[in-house]
Amino acid sequence: VTALDRAAAEELIAGRLSRRRRDHARRVAAEAVLLARRFGASPAQAEIAGLLHDYCRELPDGETLAAAALHGIPVGPVEARRPRKILHGPVAAAELLDLGLDPAIAAAIRLHTVGDAGMTVLEKCVYLADYVEPGRDFPGIAEVRELAGTSLDVAVGAAVRLSLLDIIRRGRGVVPGALALYNETHAGQ
Ligand SMILES: [Fe+2]
Ligand SMILES: [Fe+2]
Repeated sequence: VTALDRAAAEELIAGRLSRRRRDHARRVAAEAVLLARRFGASPAQAEIAGLLHDYCRELPDGETLAAAALHGIPVGPVEARRPRKILHGPVAAAELLDLGLDPAIAAAIRLHTVGDAGMTVLEKCVYLADYVEPGRDFPGIAEVRELAGTSLDVAVGAAVRLSLLDIIRRGRGVVPGALALYNETHAGQ
């Protein structure tokens, strides 16, 4: 059951996000619905999570840090370097929970950028949808899209691996959740 429906979600992002990013959110929602149907999560929850996942993506760094402090969200050194980029999921989840969002949807929003070990099917569907939505184009995405047709866990593992390779290639810090997801998805290899 979703306390916030599609129209309410659209209204929320209309007040916060650029046209370009709202289009991205709609593509993520559509992709998340497909993945949820394929892998056994709630399509209704996936749609709302997709629409709202980047709700705080355009908040300035300073406001993101203030919101993180307000909601008790931990800020490590890597998050402190790129607050908006890394914390927009946790901050959105906290703000939307306060507005009555279903906790399962809020958790998917919280984890959509970084991931973590022990993710639910819904959380994985939203994470993967954000990664493979049709507006994305970067090396390796074709393989992840193909894997997303058959195995959620293998596709998520490929996505987090590519993310980490890119972050490390750029010489940036890695947040613990991403490593936990990587280790969980590659433990047998
Ligand atoms: Fe995001
Ligand atoms: Fe996104």
